[in-house]
Amino acid sequence: MSLRLGNIVPNFTASTTIGEINFYEYLGDGWGILFSHPADYTPVCTTELGRTALLKHEFDKRNVKVLAVSVDPLDKHVGWQKDINETQHCTVDFPIIADEDKKVATLYDMIHPNASETFTVRSLFIIGPDKKLKLSLTYPASTGRNFHEVLRVIDSLQLTAQYSVATPADWKQGEDVIVVPAVSTEDAIKKFPKGVKIVKPYLRFTPQPNV
Ligand code: BEZ
Repeated sequence: MSLRLGNIVPNFTASTTIGEINFYEYLGDGWGILFSHPADYTPVCTTELGRTALLKHEFDKRNVKVLAVSVDPLDKHVGWQKDINETQHCTVDFPIIADEDKKVATLYDMIHPNASETFTVRSLFIIGPDKKLKLSLTYPASTGRNFHEVLRVIDSLQLTAQYSVATPADWKQGEDVIVVPAVSTEDAIKKFPKGVKIVKPYLRFTPQPNV
């Protein structure tokens, strides 16, 4: 069965480009991203891992550890990593899991047989400090993911974990947010001293509380 939002994600140990890791220990008490790609030495995957490496400072700023996974072996990962660094002008220093026995791919339901019997699809999981699944997305092999969108979602997840707010469509860091329906307007006015704009009784905005 596929993982559902709010479920505790499974732990595992795996061989990676930075050595053997225990997933939970690697994440520590921070946030995590586990993302799969179909295969090494493929063009879209090369750009995805390169972009992730170039955004490392953004992930670090948000206390997010990143791990990539594919079913290719470790020696192949190591050779390909050099190509990624060379062609994408980056340094990939997050671990790439060598999941030859498909242990991680199976645990996280990353192989979708009607897409490919053997290769992982482009799955991405965002995991909270409580080890619960906060977001999952699945892209086909032909479409590279947008890692700025992944950062945007992390900003929303971290903000909404802290305050009684939700983020509207296309929200970006610094823009107004929505007061969640569970908070009465009377309480919202007390909770959000920057002000509450009432468009409808169920649609109330407030400036982002933590900026
Ligand atoms: C790619 O990463 O470029 C790719 C991988 C598998 C199928 C199609 C494209």
